[in-house]
Amino acid sequence: MKNIFDANLENIKKAAEIIKNGGLVAMPTETVYGLGADVFNPKAVASIFEVKGRPSFNPLISHIDNIDYLKEYAQTDERVMALAKKYWPGPITFVLNRKDDNPALDLVCAGLKTITVRMPNHPIALELIKQSGTPIAAPSANASGTISPTTAMHVYESLGNKVDMILDGGACKVGVKSTIIDLTGKDMVLLRPGGITKEELEEFTNEKVLISTHSPDLPKSPGQMLSHYAPAIPLYMNKNERFEDNQALIGFGEMECDYNLSKTKDLREAAANLFAYMKAADKSGKFKSIAVVSIPNDGLGVAINDRLTRASYKK
Ligand code: TXA
Ligand code: MG
Repeated sequence: MKNIFDANLENIKKAAEIIKNGGLVAMPTETVYGLGADVFNPKAVASIFEVKGRPSFNPLISHIDNIDYLKEYAQTDERVMALAKKYWPGPITFVLNRKDDNPALDLVCAGLKTITVRMPNHPIALELIKQSGTPIAAPSANASGTISPTTAMHVYESLGNKVDMILDGGACKVGVKSTIIDLTGKDMVLLRPGGITKEELEEFTNEKVLISTHSPDLPKSPGQMLSHYAPAIPLYMNKNERFEDNQALIGFGEMECDYNLSKTKDLREAAANLFAYMKAADKSGKFKSIAVVSIPNDGLGVAINDRLTRASYKK
């Protein structure tokens, strides 16, 4: 049976229960359909990557329904608030500094010190966020490497019943993903062009907007990789035991170790814990290096191994 439901209030409330219980809901926004999960539930966020079949973890946009919520988890200043008041709800996303180091947000933020936020201009998305009582993490609701979905049927064709519920809100009006702007530094940096243009932003703020050479949607070439998290101390992968003193061992499966990604070898749980454990080992002050056991290279294990490779020590 098709899991597409008309987005009336009753179904939005059902969808909100799914979000609260750690499930996945595809929701319409004004740009494209998003594949949503509770921002503060790392296992639910891990299942987003699992369902999309993404071979790597990149940071996700968290969707909020209220400007005042921003300061709960991001550092804000006058410029941020002015832009939010001007353009939200609307198709522009801000990269901001995280307010604290809440490990529950580490997978959504891919271990970075930044959090990426927008308020979608769509009554169904806003109602779902409100009913869920939490911001919703959502990348586009399609399998990795396929075209962005602008109807509920597109979502169904790409992801089928891997999503708990698809809320049908008709076709998305914009069809182009949101503009992404990095507001963490002195200069504003455009990371992804979209409906709200660089010129418009420059006129509104009276400041120059730089263009990133790390734009996430430009074709990848060496030196254009999105910045990624790596611990300050060396990390070694595929080590089945400690090989030097004062080394943290990150394990997987029933074993003696300092941090266990998943005692039951559940890759979703391992993904949910990955960044938080790398950071905990790095920051504890007790260790001079980190060894990580082998992780099976299938399903979410591919994304986990990709991140471990990028975080690992190279002489
Ligand atoms: O219109 C949209 O923005 C849609 C709807 C569903 O809201 N969402 C969307 O999400 O396009 P997604 O995950 O497909 O694209 C988000 C992009 C990714 O390329 C990601 O790497 C980048 O934003 N991104 C997120 N946080 C970032 C950060 N802290 N620094 C750099 N790039 C970031
Ligand atoms: Mg996408």
